[in-house]
Amino acid sequence: MTPRARIGVGLVGFGTVGAGVVKIFQTNAALIRRRVGVPVELVRIADVDLKRDRGVEVPAGLLTNDYQAVLSDPAVDIVLELVGGYDIAKKVILGAIAKGKSVVTANKALLAAHGEEIYEAAVRARVDLDFEASVGGGIPVIRALTEGLAGNTILSIYGIINGTSNYILSRMTKEGHSFQDVLGEAQRAGYAEADPTFDVAGIDSAHKLAIMVSLAYGTPVNVKDVYTEGITRIAPLDISYAKEFGYTIKLLGIAKFTNGDIDARVHPTMIPATSPIAQVEGVYNAIQLVGDAVEDIVLYGRGAGSMPTGSAVVSDVIAIARNLLLGATGRVPPASFKQDERRPIRIRPMEQVRSLYYIRFMVLDRPGVLSQIAGVLGNHGISISSVIQQGRKEGQTVPVVIMTHTAGERNVQSALREIDGMPFISEPTTLIRVEGQDE
Ligand code: NAP
Ligand code: HSE
Repeated sequence: MTPRARIGVGLVGFGTVGAGVVKIFQTNAALIRRRVGVPVELVRIADVDLKRDRGVEVPAGLLTNDYQAVLSDPAVDIVLELVGGYDIAKKVILGAIAKGKSVVTANKALLAAHGEEIYEAAVRARVDLDFEASVGGGIPVIRALTEGLAGNTILSIYGIINGTSNYILSRMTKEGHSFQDVLGEAQRAGYAEADPTFDVAGIDSAHKLAIMVSLAYGTPVNVKDVYTEGITRIAPLDISYAKEFGYTIKLLGIAKFTNGDIDARVHPTMIPATSPIAQVEGVYNAIQLVGDAVEDIVLYGRGAGSMPTGSAVVSDVIAIARNLLLGATGRVPPASFKQDERRPIRIRPMEQVRSLYYIRFMVLDRPGVLSQIAGVLGNHGISISSVIQQGRKEGQTVPVVIMTHTAGERNVQSALREIDGMPFISEPTTLIRVEGQDE
């Protein structure tokens, strides 16, 4: 093997994350060289708009508006796909792999949808494909799953894995701001996806959970099997009831490995206000992993933004550069398990999940309503642990809030369908799942 004098990096997509990566390469060039052993240099940058101010200076000669020029440049050893989306991004990644180049991407949406094809192509070409930035922004959770915790059976994953939603819920909880106002701020700060529906509808969290589950359990995951519900229906009223019960509402990605299958879902969840992940605010993410040997660990940090996400991308570049220098690309399989050792594991359908529930009914305040609701819940085998109905407004609409003991999702859904058809119900009932002790 001829010794390399340097490692060349080609960037496609000079946007929020791309600009962070460029800044880190500029600021920490000497440090990176000492860690790798040779200089790691950005030698080509592709974007569609070469005139836009990216907040960082680069020599004009590096810039091109043709990503193919990056892929075909012999000085480029590692291609960074930071365009996002499905079409061009997939062409960049597969095109780079086809040319024998290793790839770094932050594109969780693409990996969740087409990861299998991309992993397969990378393994076949014996190149590295790293995607630390795809989950948890700057938090090294992918490396924790593929390397740090590789000796564990992962028993559960609880993650606040969307900075935009966490930012919105935190501001709504602390300052009572409206959902729309806070969404605008998250977009301006560069946290939100190009389509912010991905953030607030839970889709981005589902993409990230699907990636983590796939790496943790060595199974392909169809993201469509991950039950997904976002935060758009969370009302200030629910936030204040949660406080009253000692809970905080977070958008969680949850995966639990029990009885041979995986319970994997994304939804707003009430968690005890004293738990470590309830303290996670703003754009911060946190992922609690439980392994059979290590027991529980919590990874915490900035889940989005130019520099934190850039940090994860640069860490991948350094890992790949080290492998390239030793002729050891492909050392860690992209999907964490050897490709031919991966096994399909069933994702448990949501209707088979069991949980505690917070249920808020909006009802006309008149005698007998509570007993009718309780009757339907009882008929579906749902046991009530507490009830709040504040104030008396005869003839008007009031909230009735019920906390249940552990119940089956199927039973809860069919009870709510029945109750929502009753004449005293004034709007669709709100249901929030609760993770905590069944007391
Ligand atoms: P972004 O700011 O929109 O940057 C993407 C850049 O790619 C834009 O400058 C875009 O140009 C450019 N582009 C579009 N088509 C291109 C093409 N054909 N060739 C070259 N460049 C092209 O997006 P971002 O926030 O940096 O996100 C990039 C990726 O990182 C996404 O997969 C995202 O999900 C992921 N990610 C982002 C964050 C975050 O905090 N932002 C965190 C983790 C992961 P135009 O703007 O002109 O279209
Ligand atoms: N839009 C994502 C978020 C970016 O808000 O978490 C990080 O993946």
